[in-house]
Amino acid sequence: MKVVCLPGDGIGPEVMEAAMRVLDPLPLELESHPFGGEAIEKFGAPLPAPTLEACKQADAVLLGAIGLPKYDGAAVRPEQGLIELRGALDVYANLRPSSDGDKVDLLIVRELVGGIYYGRRGRTEDGLVFDTCEYTEPQIERIARRGFELAQKRSKRLTCVDKANVLATSRLWRQVVERVKGDYSDVELKFMLVDNAAMQIARAPEQFDVIVTENMFGDILSDLAAAVTGGLGLAASASLADGGPGLFEPVHGSAPDIAGKGIANPTAMLRSVAMMLEHAFDEETAARELEQAVELAIREAPTPDLGGTASTTEFADRVVEALSR
Ligand code: NAD
Ligand code: IPM
Ligand code: MN
Repeated sequence: MKVVCLPGDGIGPEVMEAAMRVLDPLPLELESHPFGGEAIEKFGAPLPAPTLEACKQADAVLLGAIGLPKYDGAAVRPEQGLIELRGALDVYANLRPSSDGDKVDLLIVRELVGGIYYGRRGRTEDGLVFDTCEYTEPQIERIARRGFELAQKRSKRLTCVDKANVLATSRLWRQVVERVKGDYSDVELKFMLVDNAAMQIARAPEQFDVIVTENMFGDILSDLAAAVTGGLGLAASASLADGGPGLFEPVHGSAPDIAGKGIANPTAMLRSVAMMLEHAFDEETAARELEQAVELAIREAPTPDLGGTASTTEFADRVVEALSR
């Protein structure tokens, strides 16, 4: 079983090191490839062809983070590589869980390879610049089914978040989700407008079970859900296709403000590893053990974002020690 590791930029390599330490004892072949800013420097492109080929051949892809302030305004950006990789692997179902270990336990199911990120964009001669939000029925149907299926395995409540009072794409989402609901009669379905959803997540996140939503709304709401459950340092994700390798990455970015200081919280990365063990390799026991070891490290060796003083390495030491007991 082969895992392609893409450490990336900023704190990406710092948290990836923790991931590689916990994966080291497992019977997995780990292979690192250049991606993001590092790849732009070496090869002129954020997703060089050999990196993409290795990802396609892998059983799973593990990503740290990409993006650096020096590429703001540049013609080629690290983020383009990530958008391209997600599209090439067709990992349309992005699962972003948030829990406070108490009353809040929600799962954002974000459509990842459509919408405004992948629609037509450009600039006309008279200076008009545009990004287009585009969806087809099949694109919505497959993510809606994922949402219902995941809700069936949880508390059987699904909230579809959209902007159907304004956007044509959101009205298509409502139609398709209503139709698909016929196949999941045990799931309670609600629709909520995205502005209200943001307010409700901030105010009373415990009301949600599974949220299914389009690409950009899911991006924004998942940072918010992370913030109300302990911060971005904790939030993991799994991006799944129908067959083919999944992509596993933290919700957070390269955190330029703390990069190089050795204080990044590796929890989001390690929880993404746990999601990989579960979804890519069916290793549910190993996944739960890793999650418990991370819980222990959060209590005993918290990093500064959690109010502690531990370094990334000290946190990882604690996890590795708990796992080897
Ligand atoms: P960010 O997520 O990198 O950081 C936001 C804030 O959260 C910062 O204060 C940061 O220090 C903190 N933070 C994030 N992860 C942390 C961790 N593990 N431990 C402790 N603190 C953490 O968002 P940003 O600053 O808006 O973006 C920086 C760059 O990252 C941009 O180039 C952006 O495009 C990119 N980005 C990449 C990904 C990805 O690779 N998947 C995701 C989001 C943003
Ligand atoms: C995320 C990030 C990415 C996104 C960026 C870096 C392209 O914010 O994974 O949440 O918007 O999807
Ligand atoms: Mn984001």
